[in-house]
Amino acid sequence: MTRLTIRRPDDWHLHLRDGAMLRAVAPESARHFGRAIVMPNLVPPVVTGAQAAAYRDRIRAALPEGADFTPLMTLYLTEDSDPADVVAAHRDDIVTAVKLYPAGATTNSASGVRDFDRVRGVLEAMAEAGIPLCVHGEVTDSDIDIFDREAVFIDRVLDPIRRATPGLRVVMEHITTSDAVAYAREQGDDLGATITTHHLIINRNAILAGGIRPHYYCLPVAKRESHRLALREAATSGETRFFLGTDSAPHVDAAKETGCGCAGIFTAPNTMSILAEVFEQEDALDRLEGFASLNGPGFYRLPPNESTITLERGEPVAYPARIETGDGPLTVFDPMMPLHWRVSAG
Ligand code: DOR
Ligand code: ZN
Repeated sequence: MTRLTIRRPDDWHLHLRDGAMLRAVAPESARHFGRAIVMPNLVPPVVTGAQAAAYRDRIRAALPEGADFTPLMTLYLTEDSDPADVVAAHRDDIVTAVKLYPAGATTNSASGVRDFDRVRGVLEAMAEAGIPLCVHGEVTDSDIDIFDREAVFIDRVLDPIRRATPGLRVVMEHITTSDAVAYAREQGDDLGATITTHHLIINRNAILAGGIRPHYYCLPVAKRESHRLALREAATSGETRFFLGTDSAPHVDAAKETGCGCAGIFTAPNTMSILAEVFEQEDALDRLEGFASLNGPGFYRLPPNESTITLERGEPVAYPARIETGDGPLTVFDPMMPLHWRVSAG
């Protein structure tokens, strides 16, 4: 196959930031994607419906003229979140989902949840109203090894929350382990799981072997090779519970290339070319549309996009190594392999 037309894909987990960074990265996602679930971890976080509506307006203002891109907003769950505000923001079509960050798990997560009993009321209201909970699935205990934090979270936090809140629809976001793949497969259709582009490409050697490479550092951190292979198998399996959430998370180079660098990998520009390469390598090009364009809308109970993109195989496609932002240069994820699939609209 050398030419593939698929429904316009969506990104079910994206960081767009704000200000100059938002203006630089929003057009990169709008080029290939129709919609994105936009993460609320700004400083301060997007907690109320009013804040989400204002952020949505800033995103729309940052899009190029005529862009075919709809930001789907999320609220940041805190121990003080108001169940009535959350339900109203969803009912009024301002927000699509709510995001759970365990406190301290990652970038700008200080306002996240420490005591899960304190969000029980919100979670019950969400289950009742059918509002999905997007979960950053890592424990933050300092005595738990960073490579084990996802697997421990499933046992200690995720499974108990789901048992305590029947009917709550949950997305396990950016899964990175075979443990998460196995757990997801044992559940009913109230559980979905997103997989990033970069976790299909890198294992932990990319970050640490032969020198420390900050542009491959993200959270959850990439694990050993057996986990990467499990993720590739899941993403290309055709199972509808697995879908694309890039977790494209821009930080300017100065914030990455430093003594204590930020977590986050910027994959918005080249994600679709990379995914086509991966699905081709796995002999699963016929399943790319499901993963990138159909399974996510299926879980979120939204129609797939009407418009399409076309991927054409040819000479390697060049993507810029970095883009300029008003805050400084921003490195684009380097998949360490040539990309042969060129993406165009229609
Ligand atoms: O690598 C990451 N970067 N993981 C996250 O969970 C947050 C994100 C960010 O906001 O930079
Ligand atoms: Zn993220």
